[in-house]
Amino acid sequence: MRVLTHAAELSPFDGCAFVPTMGALHEGHLSLVRAAAAGGAPVVVSIFVNPTQFAPHEDFTRYPRPIERDLALAESAGAAAAFVPPAEVIYPPSEVIEVPPLPGVATAPQLEDRVRPGHFAGVCQVVARFFDLVRPMTAYFGQKDFQQLRVVESMVECSPTRWKGLRIAPHPTVREEDGLAMSSRNIYLAPQERLRAVGLFRALQSANAANHPATAELLMKQTLTAHDLEIQYAVVRDANSLMPVSDFSRPTRALIAVKLGAVRLIDNAALTVLR
Ligand code: PAJ
Repeated sequence: MRVLTHAAELSPFDGCAFVPTMGALHEGHLSLVRAAAAGGAPVVVSIFVNPTQFAPHEDFTRYPRPIERDLALAESAGAAAAFVPPAEVIYPPSEVIEVPPLPGVATAPQLEDRVRPGHFAGVCQVVARFFDLVRPMTAYFGQKDFQQLRVVESMVECSPTRWKGLRIAPHPTVREEDGLAMSSRNIYLAPQERLRAVGLFRALQSANAANHPATAELLMKQTLTAHDLEIQYAVVRDANSLMPVSDFSRPTRALIAVKLGAVRLIDNAALTVLR
C-alpha cells in the first residue's frame, strides 16, 4: 500500500474508489474499505481529522490518532493507497477553501445541525476538498452517520458538473455483538457506560414495534431513559428529507443522539423494512 501525503501523488488514482475517514479505524471503516475493494477499482482511504467540523469545545485535540495501526489495518482491508495529508495540504494558508452551499437536508431537519452548529459546513468543506483532490469514481459512506450520508449525497446532486459521474455508495452500519454501533468514540466509554450504551440499539429495536411515528418516538425515549441516557433527540423522520412524518407511508428513519457523561453517541435505523 502506498502512503501519500501530497495532492500531486494522487494522480495515478484518478477514478478510484474512495473511503474518507478520520482514522482510529475499526471494523465499520474496514467493511467500507472491503466493499470498495470488491468493486474492482483501486481503493484510496484518507485519514484526516478535520478541524473545521469540530466545535471549539469538542474533542478535536483528543480525537484518537493511532496512525501506524490505521495504516496496517487499511492495507489489510485492501486499500491501494492511504492519503494522509498534513493540514496545510487540505487548508493551504494562502488559499481560501470555500464551504459549498449547504443543502437543505443539512439544516432544515434541525437535528445534528441544531446540536452541532457548523458541523455539516465543516464536513461539506472537507469532503468537497477531498473529492476535488482525489477525483474518485465512487465514494463510500457509512449509514452509521445517516444525516452526513444524506448531506453528502445532496451536496453531490447539487453540483452535477463539479464531480461528474461521482457515485456515493452507502454502506450498512457495523455493530458490536450487543448491537452498539462501532465508533471511534466508543473507546471513551467507561465500563459501566459501555453497558448502558446498548440502550441506543435497544431503542431502535423498540421503535420497530410501533405502528405510528409518535409511538415509535415515545418508545425510543422510554428505552433511552431506562438506560440512563441523556437524550438530545430521538425522532422518526422521512428517510430522504429527514423532515418529520405523520405516518409510515414513505421510507422512514429513526435517528438518535444521546450523551453518556462526556461522550456523545449517535445511531439510526430504517423503520420500514419490517412493514
Ligand atoms: P469517520 O467518523 O472516521 O467515519 C468515516 C466513515 O466510516 C463514514 O462514512 C462513517 O459513516 C463510516 N462509519 C463509521 N462507523 C461506522 C460503522 N459502525 N458502520 C459503518 N460505517 C461506519 O465520518 C467521518 O469520519 C468524517 O465526517 C469524514 C466523512 C471523514 C469527513 O471528515
